[in-house]
Amino acid sequence: MVILITGASRGIGAALAREFTESGHGVLLVSRNRKALEKIAEACNRDAGKELAHAIPFDLTDLTDLEEEFTARIGAITGTVDALINNAGNLIRKPMGEISIDDARNLFEVNFFVPAQLIRICTPFMKDSTLKHVVNVTSMAGFQGSGKFSGLSYYSASKAALNSLTECLAVELKEENIRVNALALGAVQTEMLAEAFPGLKAPLEPQQMARFMKWFTLEGSVLFNGKILPVSVSTP
Ligand SMILES: NC(=O)c1ccc[n+]([C@@H]2O[C@H](COP(=O)([O-])OP(=O)(O)OC[C@H]3O[C@@H](n4cnc5c(N)ncnc54)[C@H](OP(=O)(O)O)[C@@H]3O)[C@@H](O)[C@H]2O)c1
Repeated sequence: MVILITGASRGIGAALAREFTESGHGVLLVSRNRKALEKIAEACNRDAGKELAHAIPFDLTDLTDLEEEFTARIGAITGTVDALINNAGNLIRKPMGEISIDDARNLFEVNFFVPAQLIRICTPFMKDSTLKHVVNVTSMAGFQGSGKFSGLSYYSASKAALNSLTECLAVELKEENIRVNALALGAVQTEMLAEAFPGLKAPLEPQQMARFMKWFTLEGSVLFNGKILPVSVSTP
């Protein structure tokens, strides 16, 4: 299988790259930090003994202007995407009275509009796949009824929007046999968490979460479509 993973330069995305390539799957890795991304891809390929990981350094907020370039890069590498994991995310923790509208827009751009655009872009690449699964990485922060935290209003709202998009596209893409689900993650020990909640010790390491996410990506579409699944043992 070929899995397109966004936000693969660190944290959960980097752990996903390792999980998939360790099981012999191909991965297209996207994020802005070219050096970090290439390092992850090289390590995956070294351990696999073959070229399973491909780095695509790209600022996904440029997708609107550079969609053709991005699409051509996928086409040139594999021409196929079996599953898309919309994992890239941004978190800015500031009270409502202090956060700028530019910051708020950036949160919605990275956490909502980019995943939406990528689903549209990847749909033709899934045409001949036997898997056809989109996994949107959302958060307990945007899960209805979960405990909420001050300073995370726009972040939580952007993830809630992605949850809703998941439900809608699961219906809209049914005709193309594409399944769309969301995993609403609880706390995982990454740089994002450390910046948002300094001093908090998460109960999970990225690799533990990535192991479950790999299974879910490959097997979960048989059981779920349009579902928002909480994957959490803690709050946050
Ligand atoms: N960690 C947690 O506790 C937790 C809890 C709930 C949900 N989540 C969600 O899980 C996902 C992964 O989180 P994480 O903790 O692993 O975060 P992280 O360590 O901050 O990683 C985020 C990734 O997103 C990429 N990214 C950000 N903006 C981008 C852009 N404009 N274009 C391309 N790539 C971009 C970053 O790479 P570059 O900087 O190289 O671009 C990085 O690889 C996120 O969607 C997050 O909201 C995490």
